[in-house]
Amino acid sequence: MDHINCLFNPCSIAVVGASHTEGKIGHTIVKNILDCGYTGSVFPINPAGGEVCGLQAFKNIDEIPDPIDIACTVVPARLVHDAVLACAEKGVKYNLIITSGFSEIGNIEEEKKLVHTARAHGMRIIGPNIFGLYSADASMNATFGPANITPGSVAIITQSGALGLAMIGKTAVENIGLSAIVSVGNKCDIDESDLLEYLIQQQRTKVILMYIEGIKNGVRFIHSLKKATRVKPVIVIKSGRSARGAAAAASHTGSLAGADEIVDAILKQCGALRADSIAEAFSWCTYLAHAPEPATEQTVIITNGGGVGVMATDACERYEIPLYNDSEALNDIFAPVTPSFGSTKNPIDITGGATAPEYSQALDAALNHNKIGAAMALYCETAIFPARDLEQMLEETSRRFDERGRPVLFAAVGGEDLEDAIARLRRKNVPVFPDVDQAVACMGKLFEHYRQRRYRSDTFEDSVIDTKAIDAVTAEARATGRSFLSAGESRAIMQIIGIRMPASCIARSLDEALERCSDVGYPLVMKVVSPDIIHKSDAGGVALDLNNSDEVIDAWQAIMQRCQEHLPGARIDGIELNSMIEPGVETIIGARRDPVFGPIAMFGQGGIYVEVMKDVSFRALPLNRLEILRMMKQTRSYPLLLGVRGEAKKDIEGVLETIIKIGALVRAIDYISDIEINPLVVFEENAGVNALDVRILLATQGKDPS
Ligand code: COA
Repeated sequence: MDHINCLFNPCSIAVVGASHTEGKIGHTIVKNILDCGYTGSVFPINPAGGEVCGLQAFKNIDEIPDPIDIACTVVPARLVHDAVLACAEKGVKYNLIITSGFSEIGNIEEEKKLVHTARAHGMRIIGPNIFGLYSADASMNATFGPANITPGSVAIITQSGALGLAMIGKTAVENIGLSAIVSVGNKCDIDESDLLEYLIQQQRTKVILMYIEGIKNGVRFIHSLKKATRVKPVIVIKSGRSARGAAAAASHTGSLAGADEIVDAILKQCGALRADSIAEAFSWCTYLAHAPEPATEQTVIITNGGGVGVMATDACERYEIPLYNDSEALNDIFAPVTPSFGSTKNPIDITGGATAPEYSQALDAALNHNKIGAAMALYCETAIFPARDLEQMLEETSRRFDERGRPVLFAAVGGEDLEDAIARLRRKNVPVFPDVDQAVACMGKLFEHYRQRRYRSDTFEDSVIDTKAIDAVTAEARATGRSFLSAGESRAIMQIIGIRMPASCIARSLDEALERCSDVGYPLVMKVVSPDIIHKSDAGGVALDLNNSDEVIDAWQAIMQRCQEHLPGARIDGIELNSMIEPGVETIIGARRDPVFGPIAMFGQGGIYVEVMKDVSFRALPLNRLEILRMMKQTRSYPLLLGVRGEAKKDIEGVLETIIKIGALVRAIDYISDIEINPLVVFEENAGVNALDVRILLATQGKDPS
């Protein structure tokens, strides 16, 4: 966006629907703009003319002689289109449409009309259905929220207007200064990705907080979010953690990929910090807006209470904070400031007898040691060290850590005096929290943010896909509107992209099966081939470990009978004979086209219990090896690939390669909606992998035969 800067720093604002009546939204907006100290020009528009908040009101926007950067539209929905047209013709650059009553209540066509009219004149729209925008740079409060917003360094983008207004009030209570707050409402034109692009480069903003309900253009969102988190922390509250009904999905990848699992994985992949509550998000915001980058993550806990020390240690594990554990060095550093009955093992327990100066010395000892990157000081209120002594000590210590660019934070537990002291300290930006877990979480999030900045790579690996060959294999299926590929077609595709499958053939009759057994080789596996049966095991359509022709005869009859019982009338084209391969670790690998985020990949524990175990992880494609490995490590079963109980390590590289190949396939062929290999059997290192079963679904209007 060329001039989005002027949205946050406009030279002139017109309020269309500026009401003469105090208390009306159109009046409040004019009042808030003036009260906040905005120095640009403000033009109220009202057909009755007169004055609004002491300013001359224009009857029409085209009567204003000056150019207008932004308009706030506050007329009832039925009048909005004409107002938008008038603004667009006037050359307004941005229109903040406060008015409700559009797509959020099903009035979609009217909303589209607004965008169409605005685009035709190069005007951009925020909203409709928003509370407005505040920008500290311009001292502009063009909202109908609270009048007094404290300027600061946290920018908030919110989809929920009411929650946004409430957050303005809450930030004041929590002493969080805002650099900007903007509601995106129905996002008919400008969305959070556009705003992120601006906030990334805006000096004043140190942390971005986003409240999101739904994402429209996921691919663009991923791009902007990745860009933003390279520069500053982005904290996201995404509501709607509950699972989406995925009943319609015919692949495991589809049914396991509840909307929230995907969002969660993608936020992590993009380096964003996901908060579950506003309280959590606000405490991370306050800390991350001021804390310096840690030179090393080696952390010490200093405490005057053993119990809180243990709690903090547990929390450190949860938030992946490494505790400095060189016991010799710890003893050298802390023995001079720790009583003999205390502990110099991390957490450093300077005991309940510690006074403010002793506490301060211990923290300085940590500050003066280069191998210690960060310190967390825990305080339990005692008679020897009352809250009044703490206040000054924390303020001074915090300043010394700040001067040296070293992260520190404090958790203090005690009575009323202490709570008051905490409130005063927080107003001075001293990072002190009334709860151990809250404090440790903040440090954990600081580390998480800088860690992803240091180690995340957004390059990706691809493999070349012979699209012509794939088109030829799928031609018949596409021509007949089939929504899935047959076993034979899927096998052909695996061969084209270079994924190994066991030797196999399809027998149309028992006689043919008996004839072909020796070509495939014993022991062998038999699987039903039917356009009506997708989940073969569920239908009893699979028989394993068959060692001679008698067993093949029995299995043939059993499969036919079970499948007919499972799905009477199912069309059965024959039975596939596969050579039975060596045992290995069974994984599942999938790739699919998510309606919001585009192509995504899945990895997890494979076999017939995938949906029971639900041990899977996701990432947005394309990916590089590092990110694929992270996705794999996120599953509980990953250690199986490393080899457990003396087993040899498995061919992790083979899994990586397979994920890259099927990721490239889904990205290159847009009519493939889902591809899933289950199980992908992983052998010992360098022995490769083998895809035992492959399912490929096509994006057609056809009905899934599951
Ligand atoms: N151009 C400019 N002003 C016009 C106008 C026009 N074409 N037509 C009417 N007006 C004036 C009206 O005369 C009135 O001024 P007045 O009070 O001095 O007479 C003013 O615009 C407002 O119009 P009114 O009909 O009184 O509407 P309202 O103030 O009751 O409601 C909205 C307007 C936009 C606030 C309301 O329709 C709405 O959408 N409310 C919900 C807003 C919301 O919650 N947004 C989401 C937040 S998260």
